[in-house]
Amino acid sequence: MSFVIWLTGLPCSGKTTIAQNLYRYFKSKNRKVEVIDGDVIRQYISKGLGFSREDRFENIRRVSFLANILSRNDVIAIVAVISPYREMRKMARDMVESPFVEVFVNAPIEVCKQRDVKGMYKKAEMGQIKGFTGVDDPYEPPENPEVECRTYIETVEQSTNKIIDFVKRMGYYKEDV
Ligand code: ADX
Repeated sequence: MSFVIWLTGLPCSGKTTIAQNLYRYFKSKNRKVEVIDGDVIRQYISKGLGFSREDRFENIRRVSFLANILSRNDVIAIVAVISPYREMRKMARDMVESPFVEVFVNAPIEVCKQRDVKGMYKKAEMGQIKGFTGVDDPYEPPENPEVECRTYIETVEQSTNKIIDFVKRMGYYKEDV
Protein backbone atom coordinates (compact mmCIF):
# COMPACT_ATOMS: atom_id res chain seq x y z
CA MET A 1 0.00 0.00 0.00
CA SER A 2 1.28 3.42 -0.96
CA PHE A 3 -0.57 6.77 -0.96
CA VAL A 4 -2.15 9.35 -3.25
CA ILE A 5 -1.11 12.98 -3.44
CA TRP A 6 -4.04 14.85 -4.95
CA LEU A 7 -3.12 18.31 -6.21
CA THR A 8 -6.15 20.54 -6.83
CA GLY A 9 -6.19 24.18 -7.94
CA LEU A 10 -7.02 26.69 -10.62
CA PRO A 11 -5.45 26.42 -14.08
CA CYS A 12 -1.85 27.71 -13.88
CA SER A 13 -1.80 27.52 -10.07
CA GLY A 14 1.30 25.27 -10.21
CA LYS A 15 -0.08 21.72 -9.96
CA THR A 16 1.97 20.19 -12.78
CA THR A 17 5.20 21.86 -11.66
CA ILE A 18 4.82 20.55 -8.10
CA ALA A 19 3.81 17.10 -9.42
CA GLN A 20 6.96 16.87 -11.55
CA ASN A 21 9.13 18.02 -8.70
CA LEU A 22 7.60 15.42 -6.36
CA TYR A 23 8.08 12.78 -9.05
CA ARG A 24 11.79 13.58 -9.33
CA TYR A 25 12.14 13.43 -5.56
CA PHE A 26 10.54 10.00 -5.15
CA LYS A 27 12.40 8.65 -8.21
CA SER A 28 15.68 9.79 -6.70
CA LYS A 29 14.75 7.70 -3.63
CA ASN A 30 14.10 4.69 -5.86
CA ARG A 31 10.39 4.63 -5.14
CA LYS A 32 7.80 3.55 -7.67
CA VAL A 33 5.87 6.68 -8.61
CA GLU A 34 3.54 7.89 -11.36
CA VAL A 35 2.12 11.28 -12.24
CA ILE A 36 -1.50 11.41 -13.40
CA ASP A 37 -1.85 14.79 -15.04
CA GLY A 38 -5.18 16.15 -16.28
CA ASP A 39 -3.73 17.43 -19.54
CA VAL A 40 -2.27 14.00 -20.36
CA ILE A 41 -5.28 11.99 -19.14
CA ARG A 42 -7.53 14.05 -21.35
CA GLN A 43 -5.48 13.05 -24.41
CA TYR A 44 -5.84 9.34 -23.58
CA ILE A 45 -8.34 7.76 -21.20
CA SER A 46 -10.56 10.85 -20.99
CA LYS A 47 -10.30 11.71 -24.67
CA GLY A 48 -13.71 12.87 -25.86
CA LEU A 49 -14.81 14.24 -22.50
CA GLY A 50 -15.49 17.95 -22.25
CA PHE A 51 -15.71 20.38 -19.36
CA SER A 52 -19.35 20.24 -18.31
CA ARG A 53 -19.92 19.36 -14.66
CA GLU A 54 -20.87 15.82 -15.71
CA ASP A 55 -17.80 15.32 -17.88
CA ARG A 56 -15.48 16.69 -15.24
CA PHE A 57 -17.00 14.24 -12.74
CA GLU A 58 -16.49 11.38 -15.18
CA ASN A 59 -12.88 12.47 -15.73
CA ILE A 60 -12.24 12.57 -11.98
CA ARG A 61 -13.91 9.16 -11.55
CA ARG A 62 -11.47 7.63 -14.06
CA VAL A 63 -8.49 9.40 -12.51
CA SER A 64 -9.53 8.20 -9.03
CA PHE A 65 -9.82 4.62 -10.28
CA LEU A 66 -6.29 4.78 -11.67
CA ALA A 67 -4.89 6.43 -8.56
CA ASN A 68 -6.45 3.67 -6.47
CA ILE A 69 -5.06 0.74 -8.43
CA LEU A 70 -1.61 2.31 -8.55
CA SER A 71 -1.44 3.20 -4.87
CA ARG A 72 -2.71 -0.16 -3.65
CA ASN A 73 0.16 -1.72 -5.61
CA ASP A 74 2.81 0.37 -3.85
CA VAL A 75 3.11 2.99 -6.57
CA ILE A 76 2.95 6.54 -5.25
CA ALA A 77 0.24 8.24 -7.31
CA ILE A 78 0.65 11.96 -7.81
CA VAL A 79 -2.50 13.45 -9.30
CA ALA A 80 -2.60 16.92 -10.86
CA VAL A 81 -6.13 17.85 -11.93
CA ILE A 82 -8.19 20.99 -11.41
CA SER A 83 -10.98 18.93 -9.76
CA PRO A 84 -13.00 22.08 -9.16
CA TYR A 85 -15.89 20.68 -7.08
CA ARG A 86 -15.65 19.67 -3.40
CA GLU A 87 -18.05 16.85 -4.07
CA MET A 88 -15.80 15.30 -6.73
CA ARG A 89 -12.77 15.50 -4.46
CA LYS A 90 -14.80 13.71 -1.81
CA MET A 91 -15.70 11.05 -4.39
CA ALA A 92 -11.98 10.68 -5.17
CA ARG A 93 -11.13 10.30 -1.47
CA ASP A 94 -13.88 7.70 -1.07
CA MET A 95 -12.71 5.69 -4.10
CA VAL A 96 -9.11 5.51 -2.91
CA GLU A 97 -8.32 2.78 -0.37
CA SER A 98 -4.87 4.08 0.55
CA PRO A 99 -4.07 7.31 2.40
CA PHE A 100 -5.30 10.34 0.47
CA VAL A 101 -3.42 13.61 0.75
CA GLU A 102 -5.39 16.52 -0.63
CA VAL A 103 -3.13 19.44 -1.49
CA PHE A 104 -4.61 22.83 -2.23
CA VAL A 105 -2.34 24.44 -4.79
CA ASN A 106 -3.32 28.00 -4.05
CA ALA A 107 -2.60 31.08 -6.09
CA PRO A 108 -4.90 34.09 -6.53
CA ILE A 109 -6.73 34.13 -9.83
CA GLU A 110 -4.80 37.33 -10.85
CA VAL A 111 -1.52 35.45 -10.46
CA CYS A 112 -2.81 32.47 -12.47
CA LYS A 113 -4.02 34.79 -15.22
CA GLN A 114 -0.65 36.48 -15.34
CA ARG A 115 1.13 33.13 -15.72
CA ASP A 116 -1.34 31.96 -18.39
CA VAL A 117 1.10 29.30 -19.62
CA LYS A 118 -1.04 28.20 -22.55
CA GLY A 119 -2.84 31.48 -23.23
CA MET A 120 -6.15 29.92 -22.21
CA TYR A 121 -7.25 32.59 -19.72
CA LYS A 122 -6.88 35.15 -22.49
CA LYS A 123 -9.00 33.04 -24.82
CA ALA A 124 -11.60 32.50 -22.10
CA GLU A 125 -11.78 36.22 -21.41
CA MET A 126 -12.25 36.91 -25.10
CA GLY A 127 -15.10 34.39 -25.12
CA GLN A 128 -13.25 31.88 -27.32
CA ILE A 129 -13.42 29.20 -24.60
CA LYS A 130 -16.66 28.82 -22.67
CA GLY A 131 -16.87 27.47 -19.15
CA PHE A 132 -13.22 27.98 -18.27
CA THR A 133 -12.43 27.36 -14.61
CA GLY A 134 -11.84 30.64 -12.77
CA VAL A 135 -13.34 32.77 -15.53
CA ASP A 136 -16.90 31.60 -16.17
CA ASP A 137 -16.85 28.25 -14.36
CA PRO A 138 -16.56 27.65 -10.60
CA TYR A 139 -13.60 26.57 -8.50
CA GLU A 140 -14.48 25.55 -4.95
CA PRO A 141 -11.37 25.82 -2.76
CA PRO A 142 -10.80 22.94 -0.31
CA GLU A 143 -11.97 23.67 3.23
CA ASN A 144 -9.75 21.16 4.99
CA PRO A 145 -6.84 20.18 2.75
CA GLU A 146 -4.07 18.08 4.31
CA VAL A 147 -1.54 20.54 2.87
CA GLU A 148 -1.79 24.00 1.35
CA CYS A 149 0.86 25.29 -1.04
CA ARG A 150 0.78 29.01 -1.62
CA THR A 151 2.63 29.10 -4.91
CA TYR A 152 2.50 32.91 -5.16
CA ILE A 153 4.86 33.27 -2.19
CA GLU A 154 6.59 29.89 -1.92
CA THR A 155 9.28 28.43 -4.16
CA VAL A 156 8.57 25.09 -5.86
CA GLU A 157 11.05 23.52 -3.44
CA GLN A 158 9.24 24.93 -0.41
CA SER A 159 5.88 23.68 -1.70
CA THR A 160 7.31 20.26 -2.51
CA ASN A 161 9.01 19.99 0.88
CA LYS A 162 5.75 20.78 2.69
CA ILE A 163 4.14 17.77 1.03
CA ILE A 164 7.10 15.47 1.63
CA ASP A 165 7.26 16.54 5.29
CA PHE A 166 3.55 15.78 5.64
CA VAL A 167 3.71 12.24 4.23
CA LYS A 168 6.76 11.54 6.41
CA ARG A 169 5.10 12.96 9.52
CA MET A 170 2.00 10.83 8.93
CA GLY A 171 4.14 7.73 8.42
CA TYR A 172 2.87 7.21 4.86
CA TYR A 173 6.38 7.46 3.55
CA LYS A 174 9.58 6.30 5.17
CA GLU A 175 13.03 6.85 3.80
CA ASP A 176 15.20 3.76 4.11
CA VAL A 177 18.54 4.77 5.48
S1 ADX B 1 -10.93 18.85 -14.46
O1 ADX B 1 -11.84 20.00 -14.24
O2 ADX B 1 -11.62 17.74 -15.13
O3 ADX B 1 -10.27 18.42 -13.23
P1 ADX B 1 -8.42 18.71 -15.87
O4 ADX B 1 -7.40 19.00 -14.83
O5 ADX B 1 -8.63 17.28 -16.25
O6 ADX B 1 -9.80 19.42 -15.45
O7 ADX B 1 -8.05 19.45 -17.22
C1 ADX B 1 -7.69 20.80 -17.20
C2 ADX B 1 -6.95 21.20 -18.49
O8 ADX B 1 -7.85 21.20 -19.59
C3 ADX B 1 -6.41 22.61 -18.38
O9 ADX B 1 -5.04 22.55 -18.06
C4 ADX B 1 -6.63 23.20 -19.74
O10 ADX B 1 -5.46 23.07 -20.50
C5 ADX B 1 -7.67 22.35 -20.40
N1 ADX B 1 -9.00 22.99 -20.54
C6 ADX B 1 -9.67 23.09 -21.71
N2 ADX B 1 -10.88 23.66 -21.51
C7 ADX B 1 -10.99 23.92 -20.19
C8 ADX B 1 -12.02 24.50 -19.39
N3 ADX B 1 -13.16 24.92 -19.91
N4 ADX B 1 -11.80 24.62 -18.05
C9 ADX B 1 -10.64 24.19 -17.52
N5 ADX B 1 -9.62 23.64 -18.22
C10 ADX B 1 -9.80 23.51 -19.56
